[in-house]
Amino acid sequence: MDYEILKIELTGDIALVTISRPKALNALNTRFFEEMAAAIKEVSEKQDVKVMIITGEGKAFVAGADIAEMVDKDQQQGTEFSKMGQKVFSSLEKMEIPVIAAINGFALGGGLELAMGCDFRIASSKAKFGQPEVNLGMIPGYAATQRLPRLVGLGDALYLLLTADMINAQEALRIGLVQKVVEPEELMDKVMEIAKTIASKGPKAIRKVKYVSRQGMLSDFDSGSSLESEEFGSLFKNEGEEGMRAFLEKRKPNW
Ligand code: CAA
Repeated sequence: MDYEILKIELTGDIALVTISRPKALNALNTRFFEEMAAAIKEVSEKQDVKVMIITGEGKAFVAGADIAEMVDKDQQQGTEFSKMGQKVFSSLEKMEIPVIAAINGFALGGGLELAMGCDFRIASSKAKFGQPEVNLGMIPGYAATQRLPRLVGLGDALYLLLTADMINAQEALRIGLVQKVVEPEELMDKVMEIAKTIASKGPKAIRKVKYVSRQGMLSDFDSGSSLESEEFGSLFKNEGEEGMRAFLEKRKPNW
């Protein structure tokens, strides 16, 4: 696909996807979702890519769904616009490799929903977070009502969803919405360092950690634990044998 909004760069085994529509603060339109679906497919097909990073260009990560595109939609079109976004963000969760959100600035509405579809979030100290949909007489459409309570608990989620308050990075860290806050100029180096750390681990183990943890969140404790046992077992006489032998032989594993 010829990308107009996304920039995709491969650095070794790490894929960096930058959303680049800064004049509209990277607002999410139909074209974005087509490109993001294509990017997910493209990166997933590259077996040597071990981690994907998503960031935004300019002062926003993403300032929400594109209000100019949404304003004239009717009920059916609105529902479809929501389903399209939900599907693409779910497919981030379903990617085998971990996806990190590098939140450089505003992560509002659909932008925060995109960040929540990633596996974890690292924020610039200048980033701002919120679900401002009720300001527009709307509710979130890309699953914030579902992911936010699961990530931060119902009280903090409903506080953000009902007040439309914009919170800063420290507050986002406090409620567990982001995992780390760094200085703006250090953001990409830090995220790259984290991605490289992950990429240095057992590649099958990394994929299985994501798969089992995410499946577990969709099922009950016993089913999740049972899946964990199966996947744990699958690493014996496999990548795990090399990792454990390397430890015992005091050398680096050769994945
Ligand atoms: N959709 C479309 N255009 C947007 C946009 C959005 N979500 N957010 C910003 N823009 C545009 C602005 O219209 C403006 O365009 P022009 O230069 O052509 O006027 C440009 O981006 C720059 O924005 P501002 O001048 O407003 O920049 P600012 O620094 O003064 O304010 C801001 C920044 C506080 C983020 C403000 O832009 C803002 O409040 N944006 C809207 C945030 C919002 O409501 N997001 C939720 C959208 S609904 C949603 O996401 C639903 C869903 O879940 C599916």
